[in-house]
Amino acid sequence: MKRLTVAIDGPAGAGKSTVARRVAEELGLLYVDTGAMYRAITWKALQSEIDLSDEQVVAAIAREAEIVLDPPEVLVDGVRVTEAIRSPEVTDHVSMVAGMAEVRRVLVEKQRQMAKDGGVVMDGRDIGTHVMPDADVKVFLTASIEERVRRRHLEMIRRGYASDPDRLYQEIKRRDEMDENRSHSPLKPAADAVMLDTTGRSIDEVVSMILDLCRTKVSGGE
Ligand code: CDP
Ligand code: CDP
Repeated sequence: MKRLTVAIDGPAGAGKSTVARRVAEELGLLYVDTGAMYRAITWKALQSEIDLSDEQVVAAIAREAEIVLDPPEVLVDGVRVTEAIRSPEVTDHVSMVAGMAEVRRVLVEKQRQMAKDGGVVMDGRDIGTHVMPDADVKVFLTASIEERVRRRHLEMIRRGYASDPDRLYQEIKRRDEMDENRSHSPLKPAADAVMLDTTGRSIDEVVSMILDLCRTKVSGGE
């Protein structure tokens, strides 16, 4: 089988990481969660108690950090941060860090290195447009903001956090706006991405739609 490259982008809560991980498992490909990388840098910057708006200092942290993605585990400089990078504090600051050009340059270089031999499913915001513009399959996942808030709310409760849907709504809306409007590789569908609205669709359904796209590609169809 050809060493497939699959790019999955979309806004917060669209289901990217859940379905990307499942698609990678089904096809025996590497799964790369690029959001976890931006979160890892944000976590480290918060730990270091630096001024988070100082782009040079945050960029230095991004250059020095050793990030290991070993799904579902995430390690930064040997410390397991799998849950810590999903804390509300990291979530509140990650889009600011992700808006920094030098931080993006450093992380995109690492991401391209991971994808250089193909055989990868990568999810994020700029994968189809910037990190892997030649990906074999590009999917842009969306869902209504109400559904994305509902999913995140259930997930937070499942993980033992207190969750307020109104706060989540504001947080997701603010983060989407920051991600869509930043000057460096903003969140937007690639011109050749397949748009997939997951509102009302189960994880299984979405996974199977993406697997169909992958199989069509491998068998030589478009
Ligand atoms: O899982 P969730 O949708 O909440 O977010 P994530 O995928 O973990 O990404 C967290 C944040 O990292 C996003 O809101 C973006 O600000 C940033 N990000 C990015 O800028 N580019 C990527 N390729 C992936 C994430
Ligand atoms: O990575 P992203 O922020 O796009 O979303 P996610 O973290 O994969 O999914 C957010 C939550 O929605 C998870 O708890 C998933 O189990 C759930 N989900 C769902 O209920 N239905 C889908 N079709 C996809 C995800």
